[in-house]
Amino acid sequence: MELRPNGPGAAALRELSRGIGTLTGLQPSLTLKAGPPILTLGSPEAARPALNELNALPLSEEAYALRIGLGSEGAEWSGSGYAVLRGGSERGLLHAVFRFLRLIGTEQDGPRELHEVESPRSVLRMIDQWDNMDGSVERGYSGGSIFYRDNRILLESERIADYARLLASVGINAISVNNVNVHREETKLIAAPLLHDVKRLADVFGSFGIRLFLSVNYAAPIELGELGTADPLDEGVRRWWKRTAEEIYAAVPEFGGFVVKADSENRPGPFTYGRDHADGANLLADALAPFGGLVLWRCFVYDCHQDWRDRSTDRARAAYDHFRPLDGRFRDNVILQIKNGPMDFQVREPVSPLFGAMPKTNHVMEFQIAQEYTGQQRDVCFLVPQWKKSLDFDTFLNGPGSTVKRIAAGEVHPLPHSGVAAVSNIGNDDNWTGHHLAQANLFGFGRLAWNPDLDAEEIAAEWSALTFGAGTPAAAFVRELLMESWPVYESYTAPLGVGWMVQPHYHYAVDVDGYEYSKWGTYHFADRNGIGVDRTLGTGTGYAGQYAAENRDLYGSPESCPDELLLFFHHVPYTHVLKSGKTVIQHIYDSRFEGAARVESWIERWRELEGGVDDERFSHILRRLEGQLENARQWRDVVNTYFYRKSGIPDEQGRNIYA
Ligand code: GCU
Repeated sequence: MELRPNGPGAAALRELSRGIGTLTGLQPSLTLKAGPPILTLGSPEAARPALNELNALPLSEEAYALRIGLGSEGAEWSGSGYAVLRGGSERGLLHAVFRFLRLIGTEQDGPRELHEVESPRSVLRMIDQWDNMDGSVERGYSGGSIFYRDNRILLESERIADYARLLASVGINAISVNNVNVHREETKLIAAPLLHDVKRLADVFGSFGIRLFLSVNYAAPIELGELGTADPLDEGVRRWWKRTAEEIYAAVPEFGGFVVKADSENRPGPFTYGRDHADGANLLADALAPFGGLVLWRCFVYDCHQDWRDRSTDRARAAYDHFRPLDGRFRDNVILQIKNGPMDFQVREPVSPLFGAMPKTNHVMEFQIAQEYTGQQRDVCFLVPQWKKSLDFDTFLNGPGSTVKRIAAGEVHPLPHSGVAAVSNIGNDDNWTGHHLAQANLFGFGRLAWNPDLDAEEIAAEWSALTFGAGTPAAAFVRELLMESWPVYESYTAPLGVGWMVQPHYHYAVDVDGYEYSKWGTYHFADRNGIGVDRTLGTGTGYAGQYAAENRDLYGSPESCPDELLLFFHHVPYTHVLKSGKTVIQHIYDSRFEGAARVESWIERWRELEGGVDDERFSHILRRLEGQLENARQWRDVVNTYFYRKSGIPDEQGRNIYA
C-alpha cells in the first residue's frame, strides 16, 4: 500500500504499534498489504483467508472491517492468532486501529474471535473550539487554549497533535478551531499572513483524517479594512468573499469551510442590510463552492434585548420562526447548525422543533460538551444520556420513526450533508478537561456521533474501563457514578425543565432570580401561586405548536406533558400533582435534598477506593466531589428557601428549610 507519509494510513500504522506496545508490552510485527489499506497482525498463514475475504469487501471511505482470530485453544498473537484490519480508505483504516485498541483496552484478555464491519452513521462528526487567540476559551473550564497565546498560533505545541490523535481515536472527522464569536484578531485568520499558520494546523489534523474549519466574522469585508459594507447582495462584497476563498484554498487546499454565528447575540449579520439568513449563508456558500467548502450556519438567533415585561415574545420560538420559512432557499453546501434545544444547553430542554422541520435544507445538531450550564467541569455531569435522549426523540415530521438520530444520519431526508457538531470541553490543563471525569463527555460524544444507537451505559463502561482498568472496582464505580450524574445534577438545580436560576454570565452557582428581570428571555415566572412558562397554543406563547401534532399534543396539556418538562411548557400551581404522585413543591424539596445526599454518598464510596486508584487521580476526584457537594448544598438550600418563601407551603417531611 502506498502510504502518504503524513496521511491517516501512516498514523494508523504508528498508532497500532504504539498502542499494542503500551497495552501489552509486545512489539507486534505488522504487515501492510498493497491495494486497499489492510494491516495484518500475528500469523500470516492463519490470517490469509480473512485477508482475502476482507480484501474483496466493498467499503465506503470511512468504513472498516475487523477480523480477529485467537481460536479457543489459547492461540496467541505469537502463535496461530491473527487480526486483520481493513479500511475503506486510509481514514477507515485509522478507525479500525482505534477500534482494535479499544477492544484490547476494555476486555481484560482481549476478544478471542471477532468479525465486525462498521461505518459511521453520521457523515459530519464535528468539534467546535471556542478558543480565542489571546489564549482564553469562551466557556472554557479546563485552563487556557491549547491552540493560541498572545495572538499567535502555538504551532510548536505537541498538545495540538495529541488533541488531533485524541479526537481521531473516537472518530471525529472535522474541527473548527476558533470561537464562534469572532473578535478582531481571529477575523484575520482567513487572510495572509495567518493563513500560513492555519495551513500547518490543517496538516496536523489532516494527518489524522480530520478536516479543519474556521469561524468567520460576517463583517470581515469591513473589518479587514477594505469595504464599507458586508451586504450579501453587494457585488463588491461577493467579489471580496470569492477572492478570500481563492486565497484560503491556495494556501490550504484541504480546508473544510466556515462556521458562522451571524445576527446572534450582537454579532454582525445580514439583518443589518435588510437581508435574511439565506442571503447571508448563500453569499459565503457561493464563494466556497468551487473548492468543495461548506458553510455551517448557526441557528442560535433570538432577541437578546428582550424586555422582561413583554410576555408576547418567547425566545424558545425564535430559531424556528427565523429559519423555517427559508427552507429550500439555501445552497447545497450550506448546513444549518441547530442547538439541541430551543434555548441554550440547559440541563433539561425539549428537542429543538426546527430539527427535521426543513426537509430541503442540510442541518446538523449542535451539542455542548463544555458543561456551561451543567456543572462547568467542577461537578460531574455525564451528558451522554442527555444527548441520547435528543437523538432518540421522534419528531414525527416524516411519519413515526423520524427520530433525530435518523435525521442526523441523513436517513429521513435525502440531503447531501448531515451529522452532529459539539462545543469542545478541553483546555491546557494537564488532564485536558478540568475534571478528570469530564473526559468521558468528549469520548462519549465521539462514540455517539459514530453510532447513535450505542447505549449510554455501554459508553460509560467503555470509558471507565479504558481509563481505570478493565474489571477494576474503580471502573465499576465510575461507570455507576457517570450514569447517575446527569439526573443528580438536575435534581439539585433548576427544576422540571424550567432552566437557568444561575448567576448571570457566569452560569455555575445558584441565583434563582438571576435572569428573571434581564433582557435575555430566560424567565421562570415564579409567583406565590405557581411557576413555569406557558408555551401552549391555546393560552401560551404557541411554541408547542412548532412540533408535529403528536408532540404538540403531548406537550400541550399538563396532564400529558412529561414531568421533567412540565415547567418548560406550563405555568402550574405549586400544588399541581405530577405523574410521580407528588406535588410540584414537594418534588422541588425532595429532589433537592436527595440530590445533595447522593453527592455525599458518592464521596463516601470514592473514599473506599483509596489505594485502588493512583494518588493523583484519587485526590483530584475527591476534591472535585467535595466541591460539588458544597455547590449542591447551596443550590438545595437557596432553591428550597426561595420556594418556601414564595409559596408558604412547608415540607411534608419537616426537613430543614431556612425560612
Ligand atoms: C451561550 C454562551 C455564549 C455563546 C453562545 C453561542 O449563550 O453563553 O458564550 O457564545 O451560547 O452558542 O453562540
